[in-house]
This record gives sequence, C-alpha cells and structure tokens, in this order.
Amino acid sequence: MLEEINLIYARSLDALEAAKSMEALESWYRDTLSRKSRITLMTRQVGHLSLEERPVFGQRINQIKKALEGAYQERQSSVRAAELQSQMVDESFDVTLPGRRQFRGRLHPATQTLREINRIWGDMGFQVYRSRDVESDEYNFELLNIPEDHPARDMWDTFHTTEPGLILRTHTSPGQIHAMREYYPEPIRVILPGMCYRYEQITARSEIQFYQVEGLAVGKNITMADLKGTLSDFARRIFGADRKIRFRANYFPFTEPSAELDVECILCDGDGCQVCKYTSWLEILGCGMVHPTVLRNGGYDPAVYSGFAFGMGPERIAMLKFGIEDIRHFWANDLRFLEQFG
Ligand code: PHE
Repeated sequence: MLEEINLIYARSLDALEAAKSMEALESWYRDTLSRKSRITLMTRQVGHLSLEERPVFGQRINQIKKALEGAYQERQSSVRAAELQSQMVDESFDVTLPGRRQFRGRLHPATQTLREINRIWGDMGFQVYRSRDVESDEYNFELLNIPEDHPARDMWDTFHTTEPGLILRTHTSPGQIHAMREYYPEPIRVILPGMCYRYEQITARSEIQFYQVEGLAVGKNITMADLKGTLSDFARRIFGADRKIRFRANYFPFTEPSAELDVECILCDGDGCQVCKYTSWLEILGCGMVHPTVLRNGGYDPAVYSGFAFGMGPERIAMLKFGIEDIRHFWANDLRFLEQFG
C-alpha cells in the first residue's frame, strides 16, 4: 500500500503539472484531494494494515496530502497569472490606430424652424398649448364654422379612421376650441404647434403631413390692430427688420375678417424669381379675427370678447429661410438633405 500511495503521489504531481487552466486544476483537485478521491479512500483502509505499518502509512499519506495541497496552491497561482497575462494580450489594443468617427445627431430642419417659431412666440408672451393629432369631425370642422357641405370637408382632403367621425386633423385650428373650452373665462394667449394631415397629391409644394403653428389670442378689446401689430412683429423677428410685409384680404370660415400675410421674397429680395413666381411676395400664414360663432362654440360671448387667430407652416418658412425648393425633402429621410442643416 505504501508503494501504491507513492505511485499515486507521483502521478498526481505529473497530472498537476499538465493542468493548464483553472478548469483543469479544479477537476484535478476533485480527482486527487476531494473526499471521494483515491487518496482519501485509501486513508480509510488503514484498518487493514498491521499495527506497525499503520503509523508509517498514516504519516506518509498525511505528508503526501500536505505536499499535494501545497503544490496545488502554487500551481493555482501560476495558472491564474498566466490566464491574466493572456487576457491582457487578447484585450490590448493599438493606441496608435486612428479613432473611429463619431456620428453626431442634429435637429431636423423642420424641428429647428418649429423651435425658432416657438421661441419667438414665447418671447412675445404666448404659451404652448398641446392639442391632439386624432380629432373628431366636430372639432376639426363643425365647431370651426365649417358646415357639412363645405369644400374643406371633402373626403379627399381628409384622412378618416375606421371609427366614424374620427379623423386626423387637417389643421391645428381645432385646438382653438379645446383651448377656449379649457381657459374660459380667462384671457388666452397661446400657440398650438403640431402635425397636420391631408389626403392630397404629394407635389413639390404640398405634402400629406406637415407642421402647423396655430396662434390664438382671446380677451376683451382685442382688435384687428392687435393682430396686425403682433404678426408684423413676428415677421420682423423671424425674417429680419428690413423685410417688407403686407396683409392681403382672404377667406376662412372660422375668422372674419380674414387675411393672409406675405413677406417680400427672401430669395430675390423682391426682384422677382421662380420661387415667388415673379410676384416678389411669398405667402407665409393665414389669419383673422376669430369668428363670433367660433368664440361662442368655445364658450366666450362674442358681445364681450373678441380675439385673433393665425396659422403658419414651419416647413414653408424653412423653405424660404433655407432656400429649399421641394417640400418632399422634409420627410424623405435622405441624409444627404438632412446633413446640410445644423
Ligand atoms: N387653419 C387654416 C389653414 O389650415 C389657417 C388659419 C388658422 C387661418 C387660423 C386663420 C386663422 O389653412
């Protein structure tokens, strides 16, 4: 038995030397020194030996176990060091390599313009009022004084949902009613920015979705002079103080009287070009005094209150400011276009 144990000792040392990974070491330990290993099992057979042999064998086996335990510890730390070393080599990198290019995001030109418009109106004391994209027929048309047979209600202009009477708003004006019904009887000074949708042929000048920024001021003694002064101020702030503007009479069912605001063509400075179609003027928004019926629908008595409203298209303003000739660029997701802004 003494010979056998010496043999096991020698083999175990060889096997330990051959273990090259922490995993191999663990399985070596299981085989050699755990409670179920050969050596441990042999300890239990001490009873089969003669009385003289027992202490010799006992001593030897303890010696061997201690030696193997020590060898195991040593081997473990050297294998661990070797593994760490190779990991460092694997994960090292060449610090002289050029860095990877960082792609920076930027704001969409429509968002940039929208934010500029919001900021200007904010400076002028208007709050942002959020209104829903999915609207009822009632809010989008009826309450805005657009009766059932009005051409603006033509089904070809509107995206309908599968729910009858539920549509995608064709303009931000329904927000006027929401704002009035919420604020009554307080005076109102809000802008309502948001996406609008129209079921139309997509061309260089018209898209099926686009932003609008609606404005609404309601209070006592608000006159057309307030509308003109406020919108002139806005035009100066966004296009510069030297840019000429003009108001032109127009028609909207929800304002009376109604007007449109033109600015002198930014691209040709009024000399005449393709963009202004040689008229020297560019239309930027629709506006007017809130129609008595609309005021009433919002809860305000038109005998006591009055107000003005306007609606502008940020994409259109962006086109003028940046000289973009086709509105389809905005939502085409073409990076060659988008990367030119910001
Ligand atoms: N809602 C109108 C449009 O979409 C714009 C507008 C808003 C006109 C408010 C007057 C007052 O064309």
